[in-house]
Amino acid sequence: MTETYSTQILKDEAATVHAAEVLATQLKPGQVIYLHGDLGAGKTTLVRGILHALGHVGKVKSPTYTIVEPYILPLASCYHFDLYRFQDAEEWEAAGFRDYFNSNSICLVEWPERAEQVLPHADIEIRFDILPHGRVLHITSQHPLALEELCQ
Ligand SMILES: Nc1ncnc2c1ncn2[C@@H]1O[C@H](COP(=O)(O)OP(=O)(O)OP(=O)(O)O)[C@@H](O)[C@H]1O
Ligand SMILES: [Mg+2]
Repeated sequence: MTETYSTQILKDEAATVHAAEVLATQLKPGQVIYLHGDLGAGKTTLVRGILHALGHVGKVKSPTYTIVEPYILPLASCYHFDLYRFQDAEEWEAAGFRDYFNSNSICLVEWPERAEQVLPHADIEIRFDILPHGRVLHITSQHPLALEELCQ
């Protein structure tokens, strides 16, 4: 059952960062967040904003080649996946990726459609649509989320 659905226009990168800050207040250990959207849609920008809001200081690089980057933060161990180059379901087990998904972690997953046979289900799904100037952000959650501040 879908508990929360939000759709919002983000007019520029600052609006994406603001959305990240609002979303970060709603995250809890154990959650899995899928991020959908084309190349350059804003997935990493949103994850960067979430990680900074959760206390990470410093760079957040796109894990395009490493597949996953860990961030050990006060709220939870956060794992930022980019599965764009992920090909082989056997790699999932061999690399121990399954262990990253546990009750103490928050997993933020770009390109989840590349590993749908092995990925745990999402608690929150985020989709970006690209507009000529800006983005549309869609958020769907299995749990209630307080996202009123997104509109401010
Ligand atoms: N709301 C917005 N409006 C316009 N531009 C934005 C907005 N949010 C982010 N951007 C810009 O769009 C680009 C998004 O790049 P980003 O790396 O976040 O995309 P991505 O979805 O992670 O792509 P990839 O699939 O290649 O990893 C950046 O240049 C960023 O400045
Ligand atoms: Mg990215």
